[in-house]
Amino acid sequence: MREPGPPGVQNYYPPYELGQPITGIGVGVIIRSESPKYRTGDHVYGNLAYQAYSIHKGVPSLRVLPNVETLPWSVYTGMAGMAGQTAYIGWKLYSKAEKVVGDTVFVSTAAGPVGSAVVQLAKSQGLKVVASTGSDEKVEFVKSIGADIAFNYKTQSTAAILEGLGTGIDIYWDNVGGETLEIAINLLNAHGRIISCGSISQYNAGDTEKYGVKNLIYVMTKRLSMTGFLVFEHPDLIDEFYKEFPQKVASGEIKYTEQRYEGLELAGQAILDVQRGHNKAKAVIVVSNE
Ligand SMILES: NC(=O)c1ccc[n+]([C@@H]2O[C@H](COP(=O)([O-])OP(=O)(O)OC[C@H]3O[C@@H](n4cnc5c(N)ncnc54)[C@H](OP(=O)(O)O)[C@@H]3O)[C@@H](O)[C@H]2O)c1
Repeated sequence: MREPGPPGVQNYYPPYELGQPITGIGVGVIIRSESPKYRTGDHVYGNLAYQAYSIHKGVPSLRVLPNVETLPWSVYTGMAGMAGQTAYIGWKLYSKAEKVVGDTVFVSTAAGPVGSAVVQLAKSQGLKVVASTGSDEKVEFVKSIGADIAFNYKTQSTAAILEGLGTGIDIYWDNVGGETLEIAINLLNAHGRIISCGSISQYNAGDTEKYGVKNLIYVMTKRLSMTGFLVFEHPDLIDEFYKEFPQKVASGEIKYTEQRYEGLELAGQAILDVQRGHNKAKAVIVVSNE
């Protein structure tokens, strides 16, 4: 679902093969194993095919989930899975968190699994959090998890909200790219940080439709840092994540929402909803229940 990287740069996700099931991060159950690494009944997490069951040749690279927290398994696809990992790793490595108390962070797509985790991590460290999302219902959720200011960017002006702060912003967690990124760059304070996590407003835009950010000169004049990162490149932090994060989710310290799509036949709809912003929470495709 991602376009190829620019010339000379390999894309981070292999292209789907025509005629084969697409894959995504999921949780499955081992039905039969010939490897000592997995036992029948183990719940495993990793890149799985959109299939009722799969036969893996060789030993797949899946993580056995002991689920001592007794979370619903679906949560391990979102807040206690890749989305939570993305927020945890990006925030830990690039927010300069030890110095940020008193700072203001702006988070886009703040009601989604990644954004809502960032909102809660930032609040737990004493930051002021300004959050944008695409519906009034999502705005209420983002407020309920602690955002100081949450607004619907479809009905309110992002520039006006950020200008109205009167203080500028110190960190921008970017999930959308495009015009929102440009507005954030205008409002970032000197030495501000842009954590470039996603660019969902641009993923499906053709080359001539992509938004040209016009104010990159401020990266130099305001001495901003802008760091892109991919969650997959930080396996060293994953054990740490599993030790800390799922138990915070289980205790309610970190809150989450889900939108369940019951049945593999709804996978296409779920993907479209996420890409068009029609999902109301973390989209989970339930292939089968135990
Ligand atoms: N760097 C990494 O390793 C990494 C890993 C995982 C995810 N990500 C990225 O993190 C971002 C958030 O992921 P998620 O799983 O938490 O997503 P999500 O919130 O579950 O779903 C996507 C959301 O993006 C927003 N959106 C969709 N189309 C948009 C558009 N044209 N313009 C602006 N917003 C649009 C919508 O929310 P609103 O209603 O709020 O607009 C939609 O609900 C995505 O960009 C994703 O690609 C990066």
